[in-house]
Amino acid sequence: MKMFVVGSGGREHAIVHALAEGPRVSKVYAAPGNGGIAQQAETAAVPADSVEGLAAFAESHAIDLTVIGPEVPLSLGVVDEFQKRDLPVIGPSAELAQLESSKAFTKRLCSEHAIPTAAYTECATAEEAYRALEGVDYPTVIKADGLAAGKGVVIAESPQQATRTVQDLMESRTLGEAGSRLIIEEFLEGEEVSFHVFADGRDFQEMVPSQDHKRRFAGDTGPNTGGMGAYSLDTMLSDAVRQDVIDRMIRPTLEATQTYSGVLYAGLMLTDNGPKLVEYNVRLGDPETQVILPRMETDLVDVLIAIRDHSLGEVELKWSPLVSATVVLVSGTYPGKIEKGKEIFGLNEASRIGDVTVYHAGTVREDGHVYTSGGRVLNVTAVGLTLEEALEKAYFVAEMVDFEGKDYRRDIGKKGLDKQR
Ligand code: AMP
Ligand code: GLY
Repeated sequence: MKMFVVGSGGREHAIVHALAEGPRVSKVYAAPGNGGIAQQAETAAVPADSVEGLAAFAESHAIDLTVIGPEVPLSLGVVDEFQKRDLPVIGPSAELAQLESSKAFTKRLCSEHAIPTAAYTECATAEEAYRALEGVDYPTVIKADGLAAGKGVVIAESPQQATRTVQDLMESRTLGEAGSRLIIEEFLEGEEVSFHVFADGRDFQEMVPSQDHKRRFAGDTGPNTGGMGAYSLDTMLSDAVRQDVIDRMIRPTLEATQTYSGVLYAGLMLTDNGPKLVEYNVRLGDPETQVILPRMETDLVDVLIAIRDHSLGEVELKWSPLVSATVVLVSGTYPGKIEKGKEIFGLNEASRIGDVTVYHAGTVREDGHVYTSGGRVLNVTAVGLTLEEALEKAYFVAEMVDFEGKDYRRDIGKKGLDKQR
């Protein structure tokens, strides 16, 4: 089988890595890819948001199955374009990708199907937003409706900050069209867990739970980022909570959307009043994928083929009991402006350490050398019998690999360790 993976981050490297290992895959292509992906796949310089370009590539290379990593091409209708041309692809249509690309779409779905989520008001104008703010408790949460690469959510601590946020998003349109509609919602307290399922339009199968670390600095402080680390441990969700999430969120959502296919990722908040849906994403999480796929014992390609063929119910999805953890190595000034082009050392040595895989994110490869090309540079992922062991191995290699300005959070998985003690 010839596979094609769209995207250029750590998530896509983990997907390429999993596909390249399987016996059924003869060749993996990726666009645009990165310095790590380029070692395991043939990369093509097609941008991930070029819907026509991606379809043309799949057509001309007779690709058997395409996997879309990021949300932007999905929301732009890449799956619709592939289907129009009869090209096999994994992911939802643009219409159903609104589960991620429109927070109002998802909130309405939650209201219609009694899916537990934060109480909210949808606002189509700034006047409506100012009026909605009159009755709220602080902190309150203000969200731009559209895709905003993680910048669309503000937790406002005071009426002043809330008013300023509405001005910025709706009147100054600092995030463009994403802010043409707002959701103002109740602040939820609790621990966040990422819960993913594969879906084929008929059946679904759940993945192991995981937890992202979104804030830049230790102790969950500093600005939000694309993710500074993650870990996956079965006990993150009790059986009762997992069943509740399936019965009250996943199943009603898939039944309501009828044909949803691909990956559905529920961002959960485990509150004192039970799990609540914070958001849906219509793709695998990053860096969650980097801790989920290393625990998957079933060949990823078998699962993807089953999604394509609507036979997911027949696949026996097996997971390793091992615990996994990933530490994201970033350019020091991330998420601010960063300097690129710093040579990365120690990757060959790291590749010889057992139970550890270094997934590339913002890297490029030139003449056998690897250089930084983004804020999030590498994801050092390890598996172990315990969380402690997985973290120990990941941090050992995080220390070993080096580039100018390297930084990482030293407290990935700490909440999990504390809970176990
Ligand atoms: P979202 O883009 O909706 O996932 O929001 C980004 C992050 O903001 C989430 O991962 C949470 O950490 C935080 N967040 C979003 N909504 C809420 C809420 N209602 N209460 C508390 N935190 C929230
Ligand atoms: N880890 C958060 C996301 O992928 O959206």
